[in-house]
Amino acid sequence: MLTKKDVTILAIESSCDETAAAVVVNGRDVLSDEISSQIDIHTLYGGVVPEIASRKHTERINQVVRKSMETAGKSFDDIDAIAVTCGPGLVGALLIGVSAAKALAFGTGKPLIGVHHIEGHISANFIADKTLEPPFVCLVVSGGHTNLVAVKGYGEYEILGTTRDDAAGEAFDKVARAIGLGYPGGPKIDKAAKQGNPHAIEFPRGKVADSVYDFTFSGIKSSVLNYLNERDMKHESVNVYDVAASFQQAVVDVLVSHTVAAADEYHFTKLALAGGVASNSALRAQMKEACEAKGITFYCPPPILCTDNAAMIGCAAYYEYLKGHESSFDLNAIPNLQLGDKIYE
Ligand code: KG4
Ligand code: ZN
Repeated sequence: MLTKKDVTILAIESSCDETAAAVVVNGRDVLSDEISSQIDIHTLYGGVVPEIASRKHTERINQVVRKSMETAGKSFDDIDAIAVTCGPGLVGALLIGVSAAKALAFGTGKPLIGVHHIEGHISANFIADKTLEPPFVCLVVSGGHTNLVAVKGYGEYEILGTTRDDAAGEAFDKVARAIGLGYPGGPKIDKAAKQGNPHAIEFPRGKVADSVYDFTFSGIKSSVLNYLNERDMKHESVNVYDVAASFQQAVVDVLVSHTVAAADEYHFTKLALAGGVASNSALRAQMKEACEAKGITFYCPPPILCTDNAAMIGCAAYYEYLKGHESSFDLNAIPNLQLGDKIYE
């Protein structure tokens, strides 16, 4: 009897401040998932410094790839394709991963598959729940992106809403800096909020007048800054825990209401979260509750698969591989790559 051959992909991710490599079989079985984080270095500067990120990727990429192959117990003969995030992201950071992947693909003669970073984040859900199949609606919230995406099939997406200004994670990072929690802001606000009252301060829930599914976070962020300034001028103290909890609640309210409304209108029975902000404990809990109330099945990867990793890139690449998609050696780092842009021959 003929058995379907397993497809083993070596994937690389370097779009921001994590140097990552993973070996993934048939899209959903992760044999290794190496992540070398640069957080400690960027913390010194209060945010990601692109030049430093590129330099650190250069220093670490070879070790991370080697470790991922060793942990997986694979040699290059076992690999069917080399996948890499080619955008969006920091151009210098992306270039390191793309160059490494091209060199490996050229040296081994294996096909090269460029992957859109957001497609990777969405695909983390396929690793976390092996039974999940499209269609579903996915909220992708990270440091650089806020997208409400209709996942119609593997690699088939329609953007229903996006942010008009800051990304959700960016708002978390900026507010955390303003209240003195430092970088990276998301996890610090999440932790501080647990000790605060989410209803202590009414920050605005941003709405975009001409689009129900678009997001805006600049109003929430400005009103936090105004609140802090007013307190300062009156020489009144600030309860950082209450500010963190109230800010987080305002963002979570908007994310939950938009996503559940989209699921309702487009008749999706499945709803998924993705991206670094999807590791936020309040967002996970409140989205789950809202889904349960509507009879929608809720999916959310564990935090390690929400933040940047290469396993999700290997998963997305598998479904492109099955479609016969392959990138040429002209593949470049594309900092503003849009979902659906051509990256295959
Ligand atoms: O997906 P990711 O690792 O990188 C990008 O593609 O941007 O997301 C990083 C973002 C940062 O803004 C970080 O503050 C945010 O995700 N983040 C969180 C949490 N953990 C990470 N935001 C809120 N709550 C968290 N627990
Ligand atoms: Zn990301």
